[in-house]
Amino acid sequence: MSNIWTKNFANRTKRMQSSTIRELLKISNLPGVVSFAGGLPSPDVFPVDEFKKACQVVLTDYSHQALQYGTTEGYLPLREMICERSGRYGIHIQPDNVLITNGSQQALDLIGKVFIDAGDKVICEAPTYLGAIQAWKVYGAEFISVETDEHGMIPESLEEKIKQKAKLIYLLPNFQNPMGCTLSEERRHRIIQIAHEHQVPIIEDDPYGQLRFEGEHIPPVLKLDADLRGNDKDDYQGNVIYLSTFSKTLAPGLRLAWAIAPKDVILKLVQAKQGSDLHTATFNQILAHEVCKNDFLDRHIPLIRKVYGARRDLMMDLMDELFPPGVTYIRPEGGLFLWVTTPEQIDTQKLLPVAIANKVAYVPGAPFYPNGGGLNTMRMNFSNASEDGIREGMKRLSLVMKEALV
Ligand SMILES: Cc1ncc(COP(=O)(O)O)c(C=O)c1O
Repeated sequence: MSNIWTKNFANRTKRMQSSTIRELLKISNLPGVVSFAGGLPSPDVFPVDEFKKACQVVLTDYSHQALQYGTTEGYLPLREMICERSGRYGIHIQPDNVLITNGSQQALDLIGKVFIDAGDKVICEAPTYLGAIQAWKVYGAEFISVETDEHGMIPESLEEKIKQKAKLIYLLPNFQNPMGCTLSEERRHRIIQIAHEHQVPIIEDDPYGQLRFEGEHIPPVLKLDADLRGNDKDDYQGNVIYLSTFSKTLAPGLRLAWAIAPKDVILKLVQAKQGSDLHTATFNQILAHEVCKNDFLDRHIPLIRKVYGARRDLMMDLMDELFPPGVTYIRPEGGLFLWVTTPEQIDTQKLLPVAIANKVAYVPGAPFYPNGGGLNTMRMNFSNASEDGIREGMKRLSLVMKEALV
């Protein structure tokens, strides 16, 4: 790039980096590679027929609205539907508590824009979602990693670290990306209390909560926070911003997600979004509403759970059968990912080119640790490859690991 551009970059631009995952997705899309790398839902469960029918309806009955500019907050019937569905999980809110975003990724960026100044500290799990690190680093966030195990963030470690004057706590409570683990209810209560004592808001990022294959539903952190405060029904004024998305239950190509927050926080996020894109695509919002009305998701989500649950089981069985001794994994109760730890002599970043040469891909774990670590870990996606693909890919990966351990 010519110097005239680089010398004019803003300070924040120097903090921008390509996402390791996006770069990897390019490689893992090569023909013949079985990819466990991306976080892609399976196209086998995209409701294509419903979209076809809904497109007709939207263009026939709603064309003037669907092809027109819309409000920044989002299409009201869609926000009302989100309120109704959230209410089923104890989140009692009004449309003014909801902002429709271009994927949860945009919500993360808007949160960075609204809350993070250079040098601000964000508390996160270790490992945590790479996309949040990427979004918030640009605003100059520094990350404080809190110890995390198969039951999520460890409150005692949070209590220790929060003394460093944190601005936000970032939590992935359900089937966490990348570890697949779920934050226990007991820990949710404790973390809310600690956050409250230290007056630090929580960002609850929950793209996978609907995709539970087994075990009991655990109430969202926002609901537990509202209970603790005894908030008036329908007027949430608490400490939590809750994010979720249609990417994993309908289709990620729609780029449709939502943030739930106290009304004055939504107002600030709306102002931030106006500078980004004015509003999320009206056509997509009306389309998603048309597909989802009449409780379509109540019929569709069980199908997704069934398909992904079977793929998870198959992948875990193959790990038990094929992986060399010393390679362990965490059993996820839902979501899209399995987290694997290899013996320390394997550096999964260095092993990746060998794996790709053998036509299998995964994501090395290290980039998910904002402060280093995790060299011998990897994230495996089980939702995207077919069952035959999983069988073949696991054979290839086991051989690559065995050779690395000789
Ligand atoms: C934890 C987490 N947050 C946010 C996102 C972004 O999702 P969206 O497709 O809604 O932008 C993802 C996507 O995989 C994710 O895993």
